[in-house]
Parts: sequence; C-alpha cells; structure tokens
Amino acid sequence: MVKKKQGLRFVILFAYITASWIGVESLKNGLGLTPQMGWNSWNHFGCNINEKLIKQTADALVSTGLASAGYKYLNIDDCWGNYYRDKWGYLRGNESTFPSGIKALADYVHSKGLKFGIYSSAGTRTCSNRMPGSLGYERKDAKTFASWGVDYLKYDNCYTDGSPEKTRFPIMTQALRASGRNIFYSMCEWGNQEPAKWGSGVGNSWRTTGDINDQWSSMLRNIDINDAYANYAGPGGWNDPDMLEVGNGGMTYNEYVVHFSLWAISKAPLIIGCDLINLNKAAFDILTNREVIAINQDSLGVQAKKVKKNGDLEVWAGPLSQGKKVVLLLNRGSARYGLITFGWNDIGISPKTAVVLRDVWKRFTYKKRIRRKLTVWIAAHSCRLFVLQP
Ligand code: GLA
Repeated sequence: MVKKKQGLRFVILFAYITASWIGVESLKNGLGLTPQMGWNSWNHFGCNINEKLIKQTADALVSTGLASAGYKYLNIDDCWGNYYRDKWGYLRGNESTFPSGIKALADYVHSKGLKFGIYSSAGTRTCSNRMPGSLGYERKDAKTFASWGVDYLKYDNCYTDGSPEKTRFPIMTQALRASGRNIFYSMCEWGNQEPAKWGSGVGNSWRTTGDINDQWSSMLRNIDINDAYANYAGPGGWNDPDMLEVGNGGMTYNEYVVHFSLWAISKAPLIIGCDLINLNKAAFDILTNREVIAINQDSLGVQAKKVKKNGDLEVWAGPLSQGKKVVLLLNRGSARYGLITFGWNDIGISPKTAVVLRDVWKRFTYKKRIRRKLTVWIAAHSCRLFVLQP
C-alpha cells in the first residue's frame, strides 16, 4: 500500500514536472486560432521595398476593404535592414530605404488598425544576403522587434551553421516568449525537417514547401506537398504552402480561382503577395470572396484533403463546423472539360442523406436537396467549390 502511494506520488510529480517543462518550451501564445491573413512584400516586390511603399500598402489595405475582409497583417519580408548590425549589435532599418526607422513604420501601420510583421533568418544572414540574420542574436532581436511593436515574425532558413532546423527554430520560440510581446511566429524552413511533425507548439505556422512562383505548375506542386501533412494542422499551428500569387499576372483568372480555393480549403495562411496599390478588379474579387474566406477561417480548423483522383481530375474535401463539408472539384488538365463524379461516401456522408448544396463561386444554392452523388463537368485548369449542409 505504502509502495503504491509512493508510486502514485512519483507519477504525479513526474507529470507536474513534464507539464511545467512543456509549458516553458511551447509557444502557446493564443495566436493563429484560424489561419493568418494579411499581405507580404516578397512575391511582388522582392528587395525593392521602402517605407513609402509600405505606408501606401497599409493605406490600400484599409481603403480597398481588404482589411475589413480579414487581411490584418502587413508584413515586410527580406531587405528591410542595414547590411550590418550597429556597433551595439542591434538590427536597424535600412537607412536609405527606411530612413524613419522601423518603429515609426510599425506605429503608422498600427494607426491604420493593422498589425505589423517583420522578417529574419535562423542564420547569420538573411536569404538576400543584404542584412544580418538572427542566429546567435535571437533574444536580442526578439526584444528589438517587441520594442518596435512587431506583431508577426517570418523566420527564414538561410546562412545557417548547419545545425538542424529542429534545434534552431525553437530558440526563436523561446526568444519571442521572453520578448515581452505576443508575436505570431511564422516558421519558414521550407519543409526541410518536415516541420508539420514538430511545429505545433513551436510556431503558429510552418512552410511545408520551397518557394512558390506565379505559375500553375508551381502552385499545384506546393499544394500537393502540403496535402500530405493535413493531419498535423489545426488551431494555433498551420501548414503553409507559401504566399498567394493572386494578382501578380502569371496565371489566368480561373487558375487564380483554383489557387485561392485550394489555399482556403487547406487552411493555409492567406497572405496576399501582389501590388495592392495597383490591384486589378479580378484579383480583388477573388481575394475578397467572403464565402471562400469563411471556409478558410472556419472555427473547426480542419485542413481539407485530396480524397479522390482520376488522372487530372481530383476531389478535395474536408469538414467544416456545424456538420458542413467543403468539396472542391479540380481539373488539372489543360486540354478539355473533365467529368467528375463524387459520392457522399467519398466525403464521409451517408448516401441517403439529403444535403443542401451551395456552389460557392457561382453564389448559387440548389433548390432541391440532393442525395448520393454529384456529377459535374469542370473546364480545363478550373475548379468548382461546393459547401454541403446535411
Ligand atoms: C526565402 C523564403 C522566401 C523569401 C525569401 C527572401 O527564399 O522562402 O519566402 O522570404 O527567402 O529572401
């Protein structure tokens, strides 16, 4: 009996130590309960950024209505800093392109009701090699970011010391926790060490892939890789197949609809990557489709998956809150229409169930409830997006 009691005490003590240890280790910042939404400078502007452009982008986020549609983070990517640290070892905004300093820029962004994001690398230099990275300076840099009012850090993976990502990225988790500010942590190690498998509690999102470019094949490559990790995503930690290219001009309207739909159902971060100061109407309409955004931001937070494939024709599906399902029918082929059939049993609904069917992009709800299956023609490089309510 005494032995049993002692054993029990030991178990409780062990559980307590483990729990408090995990508590210290993990990010647990309460951020990213739904995938993050915002804008980032890289996909369109690369290193050609300056404070005027970023301020105008902040203005545009608000004046276009994108901010009220949910795009709250304004994130500057690589190339915002001076080539070297200052003599005290601090990062500084680039004196010629950000002469007013990053704090002033963050203040401006906040004055617009937006949140401000910045970029660094878990290496000695950032990927552009135009500024220092944070390796060995994690605490100092996290404190600097906090003092500037930074709300979001994208943390890249160039000029490393060769140590594993699993070692380098959690150091920044700790530094952000100790910084005195709640900062969203977007890990960008390109899927090298399959961060989906260890990223939960380390970051709020993790890149699962290499860089996207503004092409149909690149976009599909990234979402296919990302799909394999669906089970690891959820509120507080999301798979990131890289930022949006919608509006950058390399794909057709239908292809961008596919891109945005796949990102939305995959609970991917919706980080716009085009020029908002010269945003075209077609891109604006895609990016602000409230029903598609609502699928991405659904409170259940479950990533849809590819559930069926027949050559170029695919069915992607996943659950939403209130017992709903989202279904995307995709024709990846470039030549002709394709006929896709999916049955309720492909997506976890009993065939007998009569569902209310909503075609999201057509903004059309079928009058009659439907049972068993649906068969639809899908144009080349196009999709149809449905929400089913049993
Ligand atoms: C890496 C990242 C990109 C971008 C560039 C900046 O390639 O994956 O998203 O941040 O660096 O140099």
